[in-house]
Amino acid sequence: MTKHERPAGGAPVSKDSARIRVNGLGKHYGTLEVFRNVSFDVGEREIVAIVGPSGCGKTTLLRCIDGLLPVDEGEIWFDQQRVTSPLPGVAMVFQHFGLFPWKTVYDNVAYGLRMAGAPQAEIDKRVPEFVKLVGLAGFEKAYPYQISGGMQQRCGLARALAVEPSVLLMDEPFAAVDAQTREILQFELLRIWEQRPTAMIFVTHSIEEAVLLGHRVIVLKGRPSGIYETIKIELPHPRTRATLREPRFAELRERVWGTLMAEAQKAEFELEKP
Ligand SMILES: Nc1ncnc2c1ncn2[C@@H]1O[C@H](COP(=O)(O)OP(=O)(O)OP(=O)(O)O)[C@@H](O)[C@H]1O
Ligand SMILES: [Mg+2]
Repeated sequence: MTKHERPAGGAPVSKDSARIRVNGLGKHYGTLEVFRNVSFDVGEREIVAIVGPSGCGKTTLLRCIDGLLPVDEGEIWFDQQRVTSPLPGVAMVFQHFGLFPWKTVYDNVAYGLRMAGAPQAEIDKRVPEFVKLVGLAGFEKAYPYQISGGMQQRCGLARALAVEPSVLLMDEPFAAVDAQTREILQFELLRIWEQRPTAMIFVTHSIEEAVLLGHRVIVLKGRPSGIYETIKIELPHPRTRATLREPRFAELRERVWGTLMAEAQKAEFELEKP
């Protein structure tokens, strides 16, 4: 039986314990075919980073995995459950914060728990814990407009973490913050992940961020896009600022860069030809 074959009525089997399994996924918006035949697994304690050119379908892919968008081909499995609508246990951090402007930091963080029907006593216990974990203690009563972009991003992260998900879907979560805050948040995320490892899919435009965070980096490209290459990132854990200085880190970054840019370079070369 191959990796993605499936016994009658059950999830596909694999020798590794996968939390998320994406199998032969295809998605159209009307006549636009965004991606086709996308298959990959994410282990229980694995961070898979996804990079690809703007518009290749990264957000669409995450929304499909979150059950927010229907797929046209293939299937998504979360443990033994086929994903057809949003499931408890899967949390998403959106590309543009996704906070409710009329809710305070506290109520934004409590939102997922309330939606999941958590009793008030549990909300009162968990919200301060996660607010503190992301470094927002003291800002519980602030509204999103009263805190910085980096703090809003932390708030979005706390909201996702508060439901203690077993899968975290992150859509360029640090894209809208300055470079210094971004670096701080990357290491905060790694620290939090070391404390509470989960399956994570991390979409980013930053090759450096993908290599720093990912256990594997998936490169999406083409039109319609598909998985062009999966690169294993064998860098030791926990990853810290020292990781950025390792020669192997630079090699892997160049490798991902080369994979992502190969087509663009080919096109440029074609243009330069007389
Ligand atoms: N709701 C929608 N209806 C129609 N087309 C859409 C919709 N959402 C996205 N698209 C199109 O699908 C393609 C993929 O969009 P998507 O947002 O998934 O890309 P992305 O890889 O996340 O891009 P970026 O890196 O810029 O965030 C784009 O061509 C986009 O215009
Ligand atoms: Mg996107």
